[in-house]
Amino acid sequence: MNQSSNYIPPELLNEIRAQNDIAEVISECGIPLRAAGKEYSALCPFHEEQKPSFSVSPEKQIFYCFGCNSGGNVISFLQKHEGMSFIEAVERLAQRVGISLPSQDGKSREKSRKRLELQDVNRFAMAHFHRQLLTPQIGGNALAYLKKRGVKDETISHFQLGYATRGRQDLFKTAAKADFSVQQLIDAGLIKKDEHGSIDRFRGRIIFPILDERGAPVGFGGRALSEETLPKYLNSPTTSLYDKSKTLYNLYHARQAIQKAGKAILVEGYFDAIMPYQAGVKHVVASLGTAFSESHASLLNRFAEETVIVYDGDAAGFQATLRGLHILLKKGLRVRIALLPRGEDPDQFIQSQGLDAFNQLCNSAMNLIEFQIQRASQQDAIRRIDVKTHTVKEIALTLSHITSNVELNEYISYAAQELNIERDVLLKELQRLGVKANRSSQVRPPSQYAGKASLKPRESIEWQLIESLIQSPNLIPCVKEKFRYQDFTHPDFAIIAQMLWDGCKSDDPLDVQGLIDTCENEKIKGTISNALLQRKISPNLKVRVEGCLKKLREFLLRDVERERRSTALTQGDNNIETLAELVELSNRRRHFVH
Ligand code: GTP
Ligand code: MN
Repeated sequence: MNQSSNYIPPELLNEIRAQNDIAEVISECGIPLRAAGKEYSALCPFHEEQKPSFSVSPEKQIFYCFGCNSGGNVISFLQKHEGMSFIEAVERLAQRVGISLPSQDGKSREKSRKRLELQDVNRFAMAHFHRQLLTPQIGGNALAYLKKRGVKDETISHFQLGYATRGRQDLFKTAAKADFSVQQLIDAGLIKKDEHGSIDRFRGRIIFPILDERGAPVGFGGRALSEETLPKYLNSPTTSLYDKSKTLYNLYHARQAIQKAGKAILVEGYFDAIMPYQAGVKHVVASLGTAFSESHASLLNRFAEETVIVYDGDAAGFQATLRGLHILLKKGLRVRIALLPRGEDPDQFIQSQGLDAFNQLCNSAMNLIEFQIQRASQQDAIRRIDVKTHTVKEIALTLSHITSNVELNEYISYAAQELNIERDVLLKELQRLGVKANRSSQVRPPSQYAGKASLKPRESIEWQLIESLIQSPNLIPCVKEKFRYQDFTHPDFAIIAQMLWDGCKSDDPLDVQGLIDTCENEKIKGTISNALLQRKISPNLKVRVEGCLKKLREFLLRDVERERRSTALTQGDNNIETLAELVELSNRRRHFVH
């Protein structure tokens, strides 16, 4: 759920959506729409393309791109295109048509006032530091340092890099003149108190402003100018704006590029983000030396399905990284790892080897299993039985975090093959970890859901069902009685089904637009929009739905039957009751078919 539920009632949201025509709003954002039948089409603003596959339906008030599966309603469009938060998009739309929003309650109003105030303080400090850097008598050395490291003028201005002088109260005094209070500066983490009074936190350092994903300055990092000064980097403390586990450096600038590329490049440090960015790798973000956290993963998950981690495999932080990978898997993000040559970081690598080499490094990144196997074999002892056991355990642990069954099976087969072991060995280990994996070794090439072509027969029926229900939500209550959302095998469809089932708890018909508003997963949002936009609506959705249900239940019974048979086989259980049960199951299945 997002913060909409805080203070904007659903009726008002409906009203705001109804008065803001999606086609008008998209045009106003500078995207030329051409009429194409009942819909409009355009070149997709979210990925590179030659032929228009972006379509806008004024009737359904939905946009959807058949090329990159991005989609949603008018609010989602602004969020995605303008990089706004849900609330900001709603406020913009309300303003556009002159609807006034109810004011927030006292407490949350006070909280957002405080946030804005701290952002102002930070914005002031950012401008101050930047000015100091560009004033030769003050920031000359710092600027020379940046130049020596290869940072160009335009990069300095793009990232608003700055310099904090060595003075004890340089920022403090300037800010005081501009009427910022001591308390505000303390709350923003810019000054602290010591025995001699107030003192600037950042002194004698290059300053990197840290923006949140909407571009508001939330904190700062400061690098010492000499290698002798410790610590090398100093960061803002945790404040009400800045939580390092929830912030990724450069996410604001990288956002759109990440969506376009379908992946994010994750590095460790400020320079490791800035230098590749300067060289043209725009979809790069940095975790700033902290362990990659679950909140980082959720944040990235909003923009990309895949993360390529570019780390120095020998670095101390690498173990922390490995832990981070499990988090990504849990969140359903695909992870790959690119290992840099010993002792190098992305900053040095891109400067010495160039952009092409960097891209190549990222493209050839290994998936997690490949990576773990490679690491084990680098220890040059994979043949030693104890090492192998250890590796199997480690890999099983990694696998246990994978949420998608398809992907899990794919990885199991790969690992079994590479380690030269039976699938069963891994399956047993997984079972010990409480994971039930599919016993069959049937593997599908990795494919993101991208239209009907890539679906298995069972999934394609699931899709028909989902699509029909989204187009005709009044059928959901009845279907919900007969079919569990957990029984969808395609992970995305299971998620959507759960949303649909949960969404019609009351007697009111489900509001699909509202569903889109509360959905934070871009891929799911796209798939829902896709379902809404399907042109060939069957004349009788009810009959179609009945047909789908029948077929899906047949699949289900087949599962049960197979399971029962295989346990009976492995347990040598061939008594009469089991046999009778199997016959009964198989009869029931036939009954459904005919
Ligand atoms: P350069 O030496 O300037 O290229 O920095 P680097 O990014 O290569 O440094 P390193 O690999 O040592 O650190 C990676 C990131 O970890 C930095 O960008 C910082 O965000 C963080 N970091 C490094 N050293 C410190 C430190 O002493 N204190 C804190 N708080 N963070 C640090
Ligand atoms: Mn470095």
